[in-house]
Amino acid sequence: MKNLAIMVSGRGSNMVNIVEETKKGNIKGRVKVVISNKADAPALEKAKAYGIDTYTVLQSDFSSKSEYDKKVIEILKGYDIDLVVLAGYMKLLTKEFVDAYPNRIVNIHPALLPSFRGLDAQKQAFDFGVKIAGCTVHFVDEGMDTGKIIAQRAVIVDEEDTVESLTEKILKEEHKLYPYVVKLLCEDRVIVEENKIRIKEEDSH
Ligand code: GRF
Repeated sequence: MKNLAIMVSGRGSNMVNIVEETKKGNIKGRVKVVISNKADAPALEKAKAYGIDTYTVLQSDFSSKSEYDKKVIEILKGYDIDLVVLAGYMKLLTKEFVDAYPNRIVNIHPALLPSFRGLDAQKQAFDFGVKIAGCTVHFVDEGMDTGKIIAQRAVIVDEEDTVESLTEKILKEEHKLYPYVVKLLCEDRVIVEENKIRIKEEDSH
C-alpha cells in the first residue's frame, strides 16, 4: 500500500475519483492527506467528507515560494507520503519540492502535451482549431507542464463542440486516465527510462 497525498486548488473532481478508486481497492494506495493553496477550494470539504486530513497552506503566510514548499514538504513527511498527486493544483513547485520527491509527483493537464501548456488549455486548443484534443498525466518538474509524459488520452473535436462541451469531454477522459496512472504508480509499473516512460505489463499469475 502506498501513501498518497493529493494537492488541490479547486473543485476536486479528479481527487474524488482517485479516492473512490482507492476505496474500491482498484488502487493499491490510500489517500492520507489533501493539501490546498486556497482556503475556499470545494475539494477540501469533499476530502473531509471521506475523513481525510486536510490542510490549507496559503502563500500569503510565507515570505517566499521556497518557505511555502518547505511547509508543504513538512506536512508530507509527517504522513510518510510515497506519491504526490496534483489534481487541479494551480501553483508551480520549487526545485526543493521536486527534488524531495523525484519521479514521485504527478499532474494531470487537460491538453495533449507538449501543446497548450498553462492556463485554459482546453480553450487554447479549441481556439487553435485542433481536431483532436485530450489530456496528459506527467511527472512534475519546476516548469509549467513540462515534465515527462506518462500517459495520454485523446478526444475528437466535433463540428458542434463548444469550449464547454470539449472541456466536459476531456474531463470525462481525465477521470479514467488519472486513476489508471495512479494505479500503475502504486504498483511500481511506471518505469522511467532516459527519454521516455515505459509501462510494465501486469504480472500474469
Ligand atoms: C482539470 O481539468 C485538470 O486537468 C486541471 O485542472 C482541472 C481540475 O479539475 N489541471 P478538478 O478540480 O479535478 O475537478
